[in-house]
Amino acid sequence: MRSLLRVSEWSVPDVAALFETARSMERQPFPKLDGMAAMVFSEPSTRTMVSFQMAANQLGMHVCQLDSIGSSLKKGETLEDTLSTLEAIGVRAAVIRAGDDWPSRLSHGFPSMALVNAGSGQWEHPTQALLDAYTLYQEFGELQGLKVVIAGDVAHSRVARSNVTLLKMMGAEVILSGPPFLSAPELDGAATWMDFDEAVAAADAVMMLRGQTERHAADQMGIDGSYLAKWGMTEQRLETMQPHAILMHPGPVNRDVEIASSLLNHQRSRISIQVKNGVLTRMALLHWCLQGGRREQLVSA
Ligand code: CP
Repeated sequence: MRSLLRVSEWSVPDVAALFETARSMERQPFPKLDGMAAMVFSEPSTRTMVSFQMAANQLGMHVCQLDSIGSSLKKGETLEDTLSTLEAIGVRAAVIRAGDDWPSRLSHGFPSMALVNAGSGQWEHPTQALLDAYTLYQEFGELQGLKVVIAGDVAHSRVARSNVTLLKMMGAEVILSGPPFLSAPELDGAATWMDFDEAVAAADAVMMLRGQTERHAADQMGIDGSYLAKWGMTEQRLETMQPHAILMHPGPVNRDVEIASSLLNHQRSRISIQVKNGVLTRMALLHWCLQGGRREQLVSA
């Protein structure tokens, strides 16, 4: 039984094993798990929550869902007490999203229940980074030496932070870009900051970030089209990408703000593939947490 709260808890062999498990899960039948997985989401989600539900169901697990309105979180029960309750009930895995750095608030472990971070404020989104890395691995065969540009609202992005850590761990070169007013000075030592147009032209993959307007103190991106022209992925900018380069976005998309609507289904776009890979990689992760994800267990399952 293992938990996954931060990307830094993985090693290179862990990620390689998760990739291998995800690839093996492209072929049915799936290895089986049993028991209950709880989705504890106090921030909105479509992709992450539904793909975790799908992943748990495909593996044979039952799923229950708690949010901050319909559970005792609403009555003031702390997240930690809620997790203790779920563990006492016999839940095997709790998949958690909240708007703050909730892993830092936990004062004790949960020995018989795996915790999975499905998003913690602007700090971590490890399974998004995993599915993004897997999408790059499918496309290019390896991550070593790849130039990956992560552009946009870096300041408020847990996707950017988790991807910087994971992609660098796997040998990719990570370049951050976007408007200076949405930069993240604490990432200066971790990744190079580059002019947006230069970065787009140099990239093997450009990952546009969602503007996290719910975390902005005031409207920092505008709705008059000027953000898209200056800092978004337009058709003209896409034409400057290398012939083999791909376009990514974690979703949900602010159409015609950080990315032109017309590019969502462009031949260079891997946005739908990222979503699809979310199920496979989350199946691999649940298996890694609950069964150790070892190859012999997959084969004998
Ligand atoms: N990428 C992502 O986390 O999307 P959701 O908020 O829809 O889960």
